[in-house]
Formats: sequence, structure tokens, C-alpha cells
Amino acid sequence: MEKLVVHGGYTLRGAVKIAGSKNASLPILAASLLTDEKVVIRHVPDVSDANFMVQIMGQLGASVERSSGTVRVNAQNIHAEATYEQVRKMRASICLMGPLVARMQRCVIPLPGGCVIGDRPVDLHIRAIQALGASVQVERGNLIIEAPNGLTGAVVDLRGDHGPTVLGTDNLMMAAVLAKGTTVIESAAAEPEVVDLANFLIKMGAKIEGAGTRRIVIEGVEKLHGCDYTVIPDRIEAGTFMVAAAMMGDGVTLFNVCREHLETITELLIKCGHSIEFNEKGTSVTIIAGKNPKPGEIKTAPYPGYPTDMQAQMTALFAVTPGISVVKDSIFPQRFMHCSELKRMGADIKVDNGTAVISGVDKLSGAPVMASDLRASAALVLAALKAEGTTEIHRLYHIDRGYENICDKLLGIGAAVERLPDVEE
Ligand code: EPZ
Repeated sequence: MEKLVVHGGYTLRGAVKIAGSKNASLPILAASLLTDEKVVIRHVPDVSDANFMVQIMGQLGASVERSSGTVRVNAQNIHAEATYEQVRKMRASICLMGPLVARMQRCVIPLPGGCVIGDRPVDLHIRAIQALGASVQVERGNLIIEAPNGLTGAVVDLRGDHGPTVLGTDNLMMAAVLAKGTTVIESAAAEPEVVDLANFLIKMGAKIEGAGTRRIVIEGVEKLHGCDYTVIPDRIEAGTFMVAAAMMGDGVTLFNVCREHLETITELLIKCGHSIEFNEKGTSVTIIAGKNPKPGEIKTAPYPGYPTDMQAQMTALFAVTPGISVVKDSIFPQRFMHCSELKRMGADIKVDNGTAVISGVDKLSGAPVMASDLRASAALVLAALKAEGTTEIHRLYHIDRGYENICDKLLGIGAAVERLPDVEE
């Protein structure tokens, strides 16, 4: 176990190269199982979630080689049974379901458990694969999915109580590309990572229209071929560093970003008084912390709304912004674990029924805190950068799931941080 020790109060200056998107890489890696030809995927971030997916694909029989950000997959001889041991480490493995059923006409995959941000059901994934003609049984915690005669296209409405499902849309798209006939996905998720998966599938020969809108139409094909594909930049890593710079930055530049994917984060930071300047192509952005920051309000929503994956980070900024800010997460109403840890550092936050009301304080104090989930941990790092004194963030593995070399990147812009063995764990 390791911990991150952060000495607060250092002004951030310099440049950070943003990695490829974790949440695009995971379904794209899974989709490479849809062909028996060679696939090359570039800019896969070196984060534990992506490494878990590479491991699971290897255990399914695919040959998977990784050299720095490039992953080469050859899924000629695979089987379709993932074990609990493999899947329990990463619930996003559920996105193996679509490609395995499409390619092998069956799959056995453990029901993913919940996590601290919510119980993470998969009822929409199951409804979708059943709509394409598969049978689904639950036995001893495993989903047993059979489609002996292959899959047949259908119209599927994916809307759940909390809006569209990102991985549910991914799973259905990956199942439909080899189904007989046409599949229409209504109430589809429109996240950039869903569009990236669709573009990858199209490069493999799939026929998909409407990705990025609420209605996606897929014409099934007989077979998909290999391809060479580069994953989009990680908009949540970029957003996290934008908030870090809004807290402590005096000119922090992020390279390998995509302005279009950062619109709601950019608008909010500018509204709260911070300076955000993109280059002409929108591929890099420079941030300077505002001298008179203002409080703000967030209501998370499916893309193109404000991302739930960025509400914890913004809460850390609101904690030290004079005035009252409000954060409402309707996608994951329980996603407020970071608030209790921020309060240990002196933040003034009241959480009730999916909403956090934050009253900005003059200063936070460093303290030992516990990471709980990926984005909550990022919020603790951001608060620690600003806090007086030293903060120790335990259970660093949560951060390593989705942030590539976060320690080196923070050191590179002047933060005083170090990774140390966590003898207390
Ligand atoms: C993806 O998770 C992301 N993960 C999450 O990012 C992100 O928070 C989430 O989308 C929402 O944007 C990956 O892409 C790997 P959902 P996903 O299905 O697809 C409910 C991170 O920090 N729902 O879009 O699993 C669900 O409970 C991670 O990188 C059902 O009710 O999320 C939630 O309330 C955390 N039934 C809402 O839909 C289902 O069958 C949206 O969840 C599926 C989901």
C-alpha cells in the first residue's frame, strides 16, 4: 500500500501532458475482441483500470502486448468465461459482455458489485442483450448469457431512472455490430467516450450512425477487421488539472486536450472568475487562478451536461471559494464520500439527499485522509495542494485507477508531493 504526502501552499506553474481517456480505452480494448485480426490501440493510459482490462483479455485467451501507451491485440482464439477473481477488481469489465456474446454467442461474466458511489446496477445492460435475442440467467453471482443462433437487431430504449447509461450504450453497440439486421438505440448516452468507441468500431468495418446523439442506428455486418486507432484525450484528467490550476495556478498549460469535450467545465471555471485560454485548435489550454473567485452551482447531467466525474473536484475548489456553492448529483446521488474527508481538513459542507451545500472557508488544514473512490481521491489531492501544512492521502490505489503518474505530473508543475509506503495500512 502507498500513500501520497502533499505539502500545501505551493503555486503551480508549468505544463502537463494529458493522457489518453481511461473511459474510452476500456470499451475500445473490449471491442478489439470482436475480430480475429490484429488491432493496435494507441494512447491507452498507464492506469490500473486499463491494466486490469488488458489482464482479463489475456486470461480470455487473447494475445495482448503493451509497450508504453500502445496495446496490440490478437484475439484469434478466445473463450467467453470471465471469473470473479478477474472481474471483481474492476466493475467496468461488464463491457466485455457485448463483444463476447457477439463473437462467441455466449458469455459467463460475474455480476459486478457496487462501489462507494452507488450500487451500480446492470439491469439496462441485461435488458439490452435480451432485446437482441440472448437468454440471461443469474447463477451463483454470474450472468450466463446464451445466444446460440446469434443476435438479431431490435429497437432498444436504454433510459434508466438516472438517465442514459454509458457502458450500457457501449455494450449494446458492441453486441449490435455483428447482429443480424438493424438495431436502434433510443435514449443512448452521448459521452465523447461513446463516440470514440463508435469511431473505433466503424474503423473495424461496423456500420453505425448517430453516435453522440440520443439515437444510434447500427446495421449488423458479417465480420469486422483489424485496425490501428488512437484514443481521445482524457477529459476528466484534464478537468482535474484545470481545477488544480484554478486553486493554485499562475499559468498551468495542459497539452493533448479537446476543447469541445471540456465546455461545461470551462464555462463554470470562467463563471467562477478563473482565466481559461485555449490555443486556436483547442488542443492545449492555459489556466490562471482568479484573484476574486466566485461561488458556483453544479447540477450533474449526462453529456453534454456537467459530468458527475467532475463534481468532487469542483467541490474542493468551492470549499475554499468565498460564498455559498451548491453541488447536486442526480446521476450518483450518493457520490459525496469526499465531503466527510474534506471536512476533516476544515471544509464547511452540508450533504443531504444528493446535494452538497458548500460554504467557502479562508483556509483548509492538512490532515491524514482516506481515499474512497477515484474522483473523491482526486478531490482530496486538490484540497491538499491548497491546505496549510501536510496532508497524507491513504489508499492511493484509488487514484492510480484513473490518473497516470499523478505524482510526477504534479511535481512537474511545482507541487510538493511524494509517494511513500503506507505503513499504517
Ligand atoms: C461510466 O460508468 C463511467 N465509467 C463512470 O466513470 C461515470 O461516472 C458514469 O459513466 C456516468 O457518466 C466508465 O466509463 C468506465 P452509467 P457507467 O451506466 O457506464 C444507472 C470514473 O470515475 N444505471 O452511465 O457504469 C447508474 O446507477 C467512472 O471514471 C442503471 O440504473 O455508468 C447511474 O445512476 C466512475 N442501470 C446511471 O445509470 C444500469 O443498467 C448512469 O450510470 C446501468 C446504469
